[in-house]
This record gives sequence, structure tokens and C-alpha cells, in this order.
Amino acid sequence: MSVPLSAGPQVLSLLRELGAEAIVHPGGTLLAHLRRVQERLAAWGARPALQLAGLCHAFYGTDGFATSLLPLDRRAELAAVIGAEAEALVYFYAACDRRSSYPTLADPDAAYRDRFTGRTFTPDLGLRRDFAELSAANELDIARIDPAFREASGADLRTLFARLRPLLSRLAWTDCHTELTTAPLPGGAAPRPWTVAVLGPGGVGGLLAALLSRAGHRVICVAGDATTRALREDGIRVRSGQFGDFTATVEADTELREPADLCLIAVKHTALGSALERLPPGVLGEGVVVPLLNGIEHPAVLRDRYGAERVAPGIIRVESTRTAPGTIEHGSPFTEIELSGAHERLAPLAALLEDAGVRTRVVEDETAALWAKLAFLAPFALLTTRYGRTIGEVRTERREELVALVEEAAAVSSACGAPADVAKALALYDAFPAGSKSSMQRDAEAGRPLELDAIGGALLRAAERHGVPVPVAVRLMTELSAD
Ligand SMILES: NC(=O)c1ccc[n+]([C@@H]2O[C@H](COP(=O)([O-])OP(=O)(O)OC[C@H]3O[C@@H](n4cnc5c(N)ncnc54)[C@H](OP(=O)(O)O)[C@@H]3O)[C@@H](O)[C@H]2O)c1
Repeated sequence: MSVPLSAGPQVLSLLRELGAEAIVHPGGTLLAHLRRVQERLAAWGARPALQLAGLCHAFYGTDGFATSLLPLDRRAELAAVIGAEAEALVYFYAACDRRSSYPTLADPDAAYRDRFTGRTFTPDLGLRRDFAELSAANELDIARIDPAFREASGADLRTLFARLRPLLSRLAWTDCHTELTTAPLPGGAAPRPWTVAVLGPGGVGGLLAALLSRAGHRVICVAGDATTRALREDGIRVRSGQFGDFTATVEADTELREPADLCLIAVKHTALGSALERLPPGVLGEGVVVPLLNGIEHPAVLRDRYGAERVAPGIIRVESTRTAPGTIEHGSPFTEIELSGAHERLAPLAALLEDAGVRTRVVEDETAALWAKLAFLAPFALLTTRYGRTIGEVRTERREELVALVEEAAAVSSACGAPADVAKALALYDAFPAGSKSSMQRDAEAGRPLELDAIGGALLRAAERHGVPVPVAVRLMTELSAD
């Protein structure tokens, strides 16, 4: 049963009766807050049931505000006034164990935990959308009313709503963006716009440089002579199904000559040593260094040069190619980054990337993040490159070898502290479009240097350190190195 908005006056009487006008809440009383949340939802075009849920969202207390107006055994009383649909939403909002549920709420296999019953399940998409909308209305109201809350929680909220963005209506997301991005960033992080250095403006670096420039940041690309000249003259031209076709203006130099708030490192591993000469440690200032290379050994090189605390390794999921200096073809319908490190330190950076259109997650476990990518990538790269075959051909014609190599990579990953799931990796390979080629294979076809050592070599070295036998990987590496 859905109840029309005309139930509002009756709900307000009930709220007063239960004492909502006497409960202190940021900016005044709980009742005033509840009314503003309903008004905000109305301004976003929410249907009556969602507005009524907004007006009543604190009836059973929430994970962020414990005071409740009604015990759970009296749910029927609220349902009688606002209707079953709105009441179910109030319960869902109240019962959310935020710490457990927030991280995956936007994912198709979201794991929502009911803090009252302890049950974990995947709610349907409609319910998750309502939840996100209600959460945004609630948090934005407090952020607007209470500057101290906004100061303390603004960055976390930006990260949260960037994560929930796929669930939010356009108006809710716009409000999140405007209300929260004008807040000062915590922890002394740089105010907007950021100065971002990009070492290696190729497929990955060029795409990110262009997106960050388009989002209003100052971007300095650091590259060789020819690329520097091309970028200064023509900027970066991006062709992308996901982001559209656009040209971005960037600065370019052959060396970084001033501090940056963030330095993205996106050269190939084969060029890392010489490229780092262009990034003197003394010049970088306090900026965060985020390498996006595939592999697991480069973070140690960077920490050695720039200081351990400065480096936050990322992994990127994208298919993007530099077809000429400053010309980027972005083919994948997704662009996702996982940043590894402390959440509160990286939240502003994640928000910056999200704001530019890059889906970004912060994960604490660097080893797990880097190994998850390598253990998946290595079999794909080595087999497609060795045999000059697409993934479709490899997974049918060389199935046994693929399975053996995936098992070897998973065993090494586990020995390094990052358990890997063989069945899941194989299922992902099977789901790839049959004609997919690895970037190592494309490099081989074009006669470019291969990241063989960073991918296969790193796997063999880790296997040796941990005494894990990897005969298939050893044979493939020997054959590939002989080519
Ligand atoms: N491309 C993808 O879709 C993708 C996806 C996931 C991960 N990755 C990983 O991301 C990393 C970068 O790959 P990518 O495909 O973006 O490579 P890329 O297109 O070859 O770009 C590398 C860039 O580095 C520049 N460079 C090379 N040597 C340099 C030096 N000594 N100093 C300064 N700049 C130098 C190149 O300059 P020029 O323009 O002058 O050649 C180029 O712009 C790799 O580790 C790759 O495995 C790539």
C-alpha cells in the first residue's frame, strides 16, 4: 500500500507526539531536520513514498544517530500512517550497518547488512536507489547546516557519494557535487584546482591528463622532446565512447620544474628508469606519487626515490592507446582505478578522480590489489603474446596451458599473501570478447619493447622467493625471451 503525500500533516502530528520537536539535532531540532530532508527529496522529484520515508527516516534510529522514536515492535503503527512501502524504506535505512554495507552498495552483488538482525543480503536495485537518495538528502542537510560536520566529514562524503553515484538521481548527484566540493579538503590537502604532473602521457597517462584538465585542474605532462612539443601545440585529443571526443589543453615539459599536488606515473616499466630522471625528488614537494603501471615491483623503486609515505600505488582497468603523440583512442566503456593506502589520506584524491569521471576505489591492502591484477594479467599476456593468438583462441586451443598457468599465478599470489581465485579468473577469461588481445601482444606486433620482465619476470622472482613451482611460466618466459 502506498500512501499519498497528503499523509504529511498526520505524520507531523505523530512526530510531535513522539517528541521529535524536543530532540536536539545539528542546526536545531530533529523535527526541523526531518522536514528539510523531505523538502530536499521533493526538490529532487522523489515520489511520495520516498519523501515520506525521508520525513520519517529517524523513527527507529540510524547507524549514525542512535535516538529512536519508536521501538521496532511498533512498526505497524508507522506503516498505518505512511504506508507499507515508505515504512519498509524507513526500516531499511535504519537497519543499515553502514560500515559493512556502504562499500558495495552500488555493485550488482551488493552486500547489505541489517544491523538489527545481522542478516546480509543483496537488496534489489530500486531499494538501493531509494537508500542512496535518502542518504544524500540526509547527509547534505547536515553538511549544509553544520560547518564543523562538513569540515570533518566532507571528504568522506564525497567519496561515499561518488561511489553511490550510479544509484543517485542526476539532481541528487549535482547537489552532492556542489555542496561537498566547495568544502575545504581535510588534512592540508591541496585546494581545488590541483596541480597534477603526469609522467608518460600515453594511453593511460594521456587519457587521465585530458580528463583532469577538462575537470578544471592544471595538468603538466612530462615527456620526451617530440611529445612535449606536440602537447604544447595541439593539446591532447581524446576519442572515447565513454567520455566523448574532446581536446584538452595541457602544459608540457621534458622535466618537472615545480611542485605538484599529485604525480601520476604512467610510463611503461621498460622506460621507468630513464623517465624518473625527469622527476627529481627534490622538486616534487609534498605531492602524492601514484604509479599506474602493471606489475608489482615498481612501488619499491619509487619509494626508494621519493620516500615511502609519498607513494600510493594504483591499478587501472582501461583500454586506451596512444596512436600518435597527444592522440588517445580510449576503447573500453569503463575507466576504473583502485588506489591503495589509508582511506582518509586518499579520499580527496579519489574524489578528484571521480570528479573527472574515473571510477575510483580506495583499498587498504596494496599487496592484494597489485597481485590481483598481476595474477590475472600474467597468464593472459604471456599466452596471447607467445602464440600470437587472441584470448578466444587461447582459451579454446590452449585450455590446459591456460588453466595450468592461472593455477601457478594463483599459487604465487597466495604465497605472497594475496589469495587468488582460479575459477573466478577462468570465468573472467571466458567472458572476454573472443577477439581480445593483450597489450603485451599488441606491443609485440608493433615491435615495441615488452613489459615481459615486469609481468612474467616478477612472477618468476616471486615464485622463486616462496619456493612455488611454476613450470609453465618458466617455459613460456624462456620461449618469449628467446624470440
Ligand atoms: N594502455 C592501457 O590500456 C593500460 C591498461 C592498464 C594498465 N596499463 C599499464 O599502464 C602503463 C602505461 O601503459 P600505456 O599503455 O599507457 O603506455 P604508452 O601508451 O606506451 O605510454 C607511455 C608513455 O610514456 C612515455 N615515455 C616513454 N619513455 C619515456 C621517458 N623516458 N620519459 C618520459 N616519458 C616517456 C611515452 O612517450 P611518447 O608519447 O613520447 O612515446 C608515452 O607517452 C603500463 O605499465 C601498462 O601495462 C595500460
